[in-house]
Amino acid sequence: MSEAATKLGPGGKASESIARLELAGKTHEFKVRSGSTGPDVIDIGALYSTTGAFTYDPGFTSTASCESAITFIDGDAGILLHRGYPIDQLAEHGDFLEVCYLLLYGELPTKAQKDDFDYRVTRHTMVHEQMSRFFTGFRRDAHPMAVMCGVVGALSAFYHDSTDISDPYQRMVASMRLIAKMPTIAAMAYKYHIGQPFIYPKNELNFAANFLHMCFAVPCEEYKINPVLARAMERIFILHADHEQNASTSTVRLAGSSGANPFACIAAGIACLWGPAHGGANEAALNMLGEIGHVDNIPEFIARAKDKNDPFRLMGFGHRVYKNYDPRAKIMQKTAHEVLGELGIKDDPLLDIAMELEKIALTDEYFIEKKLYPNVDFYSGITLKALGFPTTMFTVLFAVARTVGWIAQWKEMIEDPHQKIGRPRQLYTGATERDYVPIAKR
Ligand code: SDX
Repeated sequence: MSEAATKLGPGGKASESIARLELAGKTHEFKVRSGSTGPDVIDIGALYSTTGAFTYDPGFTSTASCESAITFIDGDAGILLHRGYPIDQLAEHGDFLEVCYLLLYGELPTKAQKDDFDYRVTRHTMVHEQMSRFFTGFRRDAHPMAVMCGVVGALSAFYHDSTDISDPYQRMVASMRLIAKMPTIAAMAYKYHIGQPFIYPKNELNFAANFLHMCFAVPCEEYKINPVLARAMERIFILHADHEQNASTSTVRLAGSSGANPFACIAAGIACLWGPAHGGANEAALNMLGEIGHVDNIPEFIARAKDKNDPFRLMGFGHRVYKNYDPRAKIMQKTAHEVLGELGIKDDPLLDIAMELEKIALTDEYFIEKKLYPNVDFYSGITLKALGFPTTMFTVLFAVARTVGWIAQWKEMIEDPHQKIGRPRQLYTGATERDYVPIAKR
């Protein structure tokens, strides 16, 4: 691909660029498009029809799968914007449903819009009473993410009146239902896991306080919401709300591109998020800190992480896009200290190990050369454990928060007039055509 030639438009601003590809003695031109910020893209939609060749990019390290206006990440600078607003400002000043509104509709809500949105979400927090029977089909010790995959997918079996994706009203109702019911289902998964009765949502509580109440209240006594912990929970949800075209969001977009109903698409996103390389890293990171056990053992684990023959990786470190400190990790670390302080946990050995591990890793030439920094999952586990959640619930909480991001991205895709079913191709390296051989002759 030769240099892009830029044709300057009026006022000298790049109006359109062209990229040229020399292939098999022919020159092919492709349009280069610029977004409002970030890398340009080379539109190769006609590449196969004009050259007979595909691009090859497993893992999509250099591939833009869509056009989006929701979230922007500058991985080198460690910047994360939601509809232009920096994540640290949203985490500091916003509440989760306000960020949900922003992600869905593109602007921060006015007071009236926020009150209406809160009202609409709050009145969808209960689930159909028969859904509680799904849980009894699971073992009590089933991983809560397995339960979430099953129960969220089953929402399609209850809410037939909001599965027609061609109807904007049904799409809106399904979006409200998913945002509102995910915390309820997550809390039910937790209560079922520990053998306690389900706790109904309380409409006078905000999103995070209601979630803590459904998880930790018991029928035999009043549960008092700790405002510091509820604020920390709210901030954790905000930090995990959306993150551009990550693996689970791409899964939801691909599932949605076939016309699957939104409940099925979100269930697919939950399944993908479960992987330890993605949303499962918060659970894996805390388990890793437990395995390290003491700051004296850190050098051994750093050596293992650098050893090509050892599959061990520092969980909570590294990122496909961030080649700088994940801005969410900084806020997560601050939240960890706040929660531990509020709970009077003076010296959490896992936090000591995490802080020492970060310090050592950030001065190690391997991690510097490969630009491996702590990501959002590195400190979240310590905070969630302090809040009282078992490690098996960490990715469930990630899914509760990310549901709005999945829905916003799904909504953007469905509303895109150019949207079509996602259907990647391949580089085929298998057997070429050959005739069947009867078993007696093999
Ligand atoms: C999330 O995409 C998103 O936005 C995701 C997310 C979101 O909000 O949706 O941000 C949430 O998933 C955060 C990431 C959580 N995962 C982990 O913490 C698991 C540990 N991290 C790694 O598995 C890894 O860093 C990934 C999966 C996150 C990124 O992997 P990439 O981009 O495919 O990079 P890579 O595996 O090619 O690594 C580049 C090099 C490799 O060495 P070389 O083969 O070039 O010699 O860095 C090394 C890797 O071996 N490396 C690590 C490492 N991560 C990468 N070495 C040790 N420890 C690590 N954690």
